[in-house]
Amino acid sequence: MCGIVGYVGKRDAMPVLIEGLHRLEYRGYDSAGLAVISRGRLQITKTAGRVQDLRDKLAAKAGASSAKTGASVAKPTIGIGHTRWATHGEPNEINAHPHTDTANRIAVVHNGIIENAEFLRDQLQASGVHLASDTDTEALAHMIAAEFAADESATLEDAVIRTLRKVEGAYGLVVVDTKNPDQLVVARNGSPIVLGLGNSEMFVASDVSALVRYTKQVIYLEDGEVATIKATDYHTATVTAGGTESSGIKVPTTVDADADDYELGQFSDYMRKEIHEQPDAIRRALRGRLEERFATARLGGINLDARELRNIRCVKFLGCGSAYYAGQMGAALVEELARIPADAEPASEFRYRSPVVDPDTLYVAVSQSGETIDTLMGVQELKRKGGQVIGAVNVVGSAIGRECGHGIFLHAGPEVAVASTKALTNMAVNFALLALLLGRVRDLSSANGERIVNGLRNLPAQVSAILAEDEGISTIANRYADADHMFFIGRVRGWPVAREGAQKLKEISYVHAEAYQAGELKHGPLALISPEMPSLVIIPSDELVAKNMSTVEQIKARGGPVIVVTSFAELPDTIADVVIRVPRAEPELEPILLNIPLQLFAYHAAAKLGRDIDKPRNLAKSVTVE
Ligand code: F6R
Repeated sequence: MCGIVGYVGKRDAMPVLIEGLHRLEYRGYDSAGLAVISRGRLQITKTAGRVQDLRDKLAAKAGASSAKTGASVAKPTIGIGHTRWATHGEPNEINAHPHTDTANRIAVVHNGIIENAEFLRDQLQASGVHLASDTDTEALAHMIAAEFAADESATLEDAVIRTLRKVEGAYGLVVVDTKNPDQLVVARNGSPIVLGLGNSEMFVASDVSALVRYTKQVIYLEDGEVATIKATDYHTATVTAGGTESSGIKVPTTVDADADDYELGQFSDYMRKEIHEQPDAIRRALRGRLEERFATARLGGINLDARELRNIRCVKFLGCGSAYYAGQMGAALVEELARIPADAEPASEFRYRSPVVDPDTLYVAVSQSGETIDTLMGVQELKRKGGQVIGAVNVVGSAIGRECGHGIFLHAGPEVAVASTKALTNMAVNFALLALLLGRVRDLSSANGERIVNGLRNLPAQVSAILAEDEGISTIANRYADADHMFFIGRVRGWPVAREGAQKLKEISYVHAEAYQAGELKHGPLALISPEMPSLVIIPSDELVAKNMSTVEQIKARGGPVIVVTSFAELPDTIADVVIRVPRAEPELEPILLNIPLQLFAYHAAAKLGRDIDKPRNLAKSVTVE
């Protein structure tokens, strides 16, 4: 969703800001803007379009101004930028950030939602302030200016803190002030802010992807912290009820990603690139985590010893969208390997239904971004009720990872495409490790443990073998892309795979896809089967093959086209209109492989339909607001 960048240093701020905004585009946005201080004045440029439109506008402005003056103008060295996902007010140029006060002294960019915005806006209007936009953010700019009007000696940090004391809601924000042109003030409460430390220059962003080109040394702000950033130094403070306290010395974190990780390389879009990165992503997840001698897994980050692991009576996975489906795969793995009850629930439901929190349950908060608000709130609810929760996140330093304190790092590498692929695969692989660990402190024999360890080791090569079939799957997807609706059918191990496959198809191709448990078809949905309704049926190599084959027969008997995705080599090609084959794996691990052709199917169907694959309509990469 919204993205923030800021810069103070010695370079021309404009290209740094534009590059940062470009790197944040993947998060999803509907308008963009930036503000720099040039010759003591704010220069604001905004667009209701893409970052490229902003770039074009700036180039046109620069051309017009040099034609007028004939002289080159000193480049601004401080500025802030924003990509906006509309919450308060339409996605138009006026509502785009940055927002300013009436005198154009202060400019603010803000992620999150100010919950008492209406009250604050009414108060400002009652005091005679004209509000130009419909946003909650504009109120902040006027309020900061009002703090200066009330106390001329206030520092920018003072004015920001005094303003934030009146604000309810979530924010990550950056403020510039023409009267303090050497500094940015940033604050965080519920929406991520990271500082990038350079050589006589500093960067700010809501996401490290905007910084890695310039520095790998970063500091993640905590909720309730503010920071004043100058080119050569910075300080952070925690806002308390009575004032502020220094946050002390912060040790920078080195970002575990390269600028190249965010480049497309030979690929035309990130989703395809990330699908093809899966063998490496799985290798990274397994590195150093397989304990051959005891046929178990090593997951130091969860911080639970054997006795504590044994005391866990139930495991519950919480996540949203694909992270929830990965949690379902995890629950199946835990039940199968550790024989303890496990299930998954959408975090968006969990947080609102006043859950009964069992102290002997291990809760696992699953999230690629580590920022999803529903999952974060679920974790907070759990902690409040004394629940035992670990994170399974891909982004180091993210809100959920930090809130949980302990957990499993997914090691998928940066995921840029909105549709999750390699992160979901790595979630399932990591849950297999967790299930193995829980199983081996219980009754899972060392022979069975070894079987799973070997099965996990084989996964990268098996995924590569599936990816080698990319072209063939593309032909199949092209054949079915024009369908208006599709069913994805699975049973037991195939069920979360079917759900994830349907989700992937609908989110990037906009083809209506529904997942059903195979056994449920005859209780209603069978009525929809017709030659216009293709069904994709998942058939793992397990004891349910015969049942799944009879599901295929039921669909065919009603004239429905069928695509089968299977690891069961003995299944004849004549069983369905098309059979997509994956290698056979250890049965518990097969969902991980069966899911890969579904990613390719969705990808190629969307490509055939000419969709914007990396940025599907109405969706954002990390959902930080409700
Ligand atoms: C689907 C997808 C979403 C996310 C969901 C949770 O491809 O990407 O359904 O899985 O929004 O996001 P994270 O994992 O960042 O919490």
